[in-house]
Amino acid sequence: MTTAEPKPLDIVFQPLAARHDGVMAILVEDGMKLASVGQTLDEASKGILTQAAKVADFKGKVKASFELLAPVGLAQDRIVVIGAGKVADLSDNDWVLLGGSAFGTLTARKSKAASLVVETVTEPGCGPAEAAALMAMGALLRSYQFRKYLTRDGGGDDNGQPPSLAKLVVHCAEPKKAEKAFARHQAVANGVMLARDLVNEPANVLGPVEFAERAKALKDVGVKVEVLDVEDLEKLGMGALLGVAQGSVRPARVAVMQWSGGKKGEAPLAFVGKGVVFDTGGISIKPAQGMEDMKGDMGGAATVVGLMHALAERKAKVNVVGLIGCVENMPSANAQRPGDIVRSMSGQTIEVLNTDAEGRLVLADVLWYAQERFKPAAIVDLATLTGAIMVALGKEYAGLYSNNDDLVGALQAASKATGEKVWRMPLDKAYDKLIDSKNADVKNIGGRWGGACTAAQFLQRFIKDKATPWAHLDIAGTAMDSGRNEISQGWASGWGVRLLDRFVADGYEG
Ligand code: BES
Ligand code: MN
Ligand code: ZN
Repeated sequence: MTTAEPKPLDIVFQPLAARHDGVMAILVEDGMKLASVGQTLDEASKGILTQAAKVADFKGKVKASFELLAPVGLAQDRIVVIGAGKVADLSDNDWVLLGGSAFGTLTARKSKAASLVVETVTEPGCGPAEAAALMAMGALLRSYQFRKYLTRDGGGDDNGQPPSLAKLVVHCAEPKKAEKAFARHQAVANGVMLARDLVNEPANVLGPVEFAERAKALKDVGVKVEVLDVEDLEKLGMGALLGVAQGSVRPARVAVMQWSGGKKGEAPLAFVGKGVVFDTGGISIKPAQGMEDMKGDMGGAATVVGLMHALAERKAKVNVVGLIGCVENMPSANAQRPGDIVRSMSGQTIEVLNTDAEGRLVLADVLWYAQERFKPAAIVDLATLTGAIMVALGKEYAGLYSNNDDLVGALQAASKATGEKVWRMPLDKAYDKLIDSKNADVKNIGGRWGGACTAAQFLQRFIKDKATPWAHLDIAGTAMDSGRNEISQGWASGWGVRLLDRFVADGYEG
């Protein structure tokens, strides 16, 4: 059924050069400052470049660009002139975004290969080699497409390849240095693209068993992976997770991924993900409209898998465990009912008043298991947990809930650096009374108001030791059904891989 997946973009680094056969992009700074390659081109063409910029009213502002088509003596195809804005002010993430939009412009037509000249008059804050590497990362992320099920050519060439570049040559002053810097960014981009692949995959293909298998493939990059099956989960007493899974003919799995790049015996960081491969709502069934989007309800788990891949591929000097709870939430003769009371691994009983509030049931058990087994230094969970978080924050920000201000600070700093936005939301004892149940220790829904907050408050009841720093990211708005931007062609964003990679790098790698 599947056709060949398009090969990932091939990126190479070469020295600065002004001669090109195909498509070429150059950067021009605010105030129309031309660096050496730009100047050479302009002189060779008797000022066509600066003249065209005038005609196009282009001054080098960021996001502005124009094309010179088949300029005689300069390029057979075209030259794309891209505004880099005020270069000294560009953040790391700005360079990534610039690389993404450059790729978007370069790939807009038929050419298969292109050159990107990363040269500016003003020195980038991160250094010129790093700027080139970050632009290459942006290009790689932008090049991602999910096309494995397209058997028609989709507007592509004779080989069914989409109309996009296969190769990008990045020209810069220190290509060796840039290539080295890129290795790390490429690892992270590969993690993002793996997360996107998992989120895009339809649920008929990616059931809980298949998802755990995909996690197992991380063995290839040196991650230790175990998969717990239903018998294991029963023995552990994961009644909350199993209650969700029981309506599906496809059995639950929990995958445990360990990357031990840090000091021996040092407590790991734990990342826990909601992996509901499809959320029909169960007996509390969802409306048909838009239900197809619920194939993305494993976005939290996908981010955890993508992150583990990234950390392992770049050989992060840190101990990390990733745990994902993979289930399918289906209505059936065997499904759990509203009013059922389940016993979680923690021992706490939960009254399931709405079977569509299933993510917190899955996380309750996986969070508990993560703490009991690994005694982590800190825990971050990710989940497409509530529609309510989108009502509160829209689709730009993920909701951040935490019991620890330092952890919040570190996540906010990583968020600023990567552009994956988080907004802190409240945990509060006052929410507890909304989830106290008269028939069990806790119930799985609050009331009408503050749905994302009561969900987070529910999760907090499964943090064993109140002193363990814990953060919960509600990524319902950011992980799936996302819009296009400079570095993503939409739907599955791979949100959180870059954020958490940075969080780990800045706070835990010595
Ligand atoms: N997976 C959904 C949350 C969701 C909604 C994610 C839309 C992405 C897009 C979650 O399991 C759910 O159904 N939550 C309910 C909770 C309610 C029943 C308390 C919700 O948000 O409506
Ligand atoms: Mn649900
Ligand atoms: Zn769900």
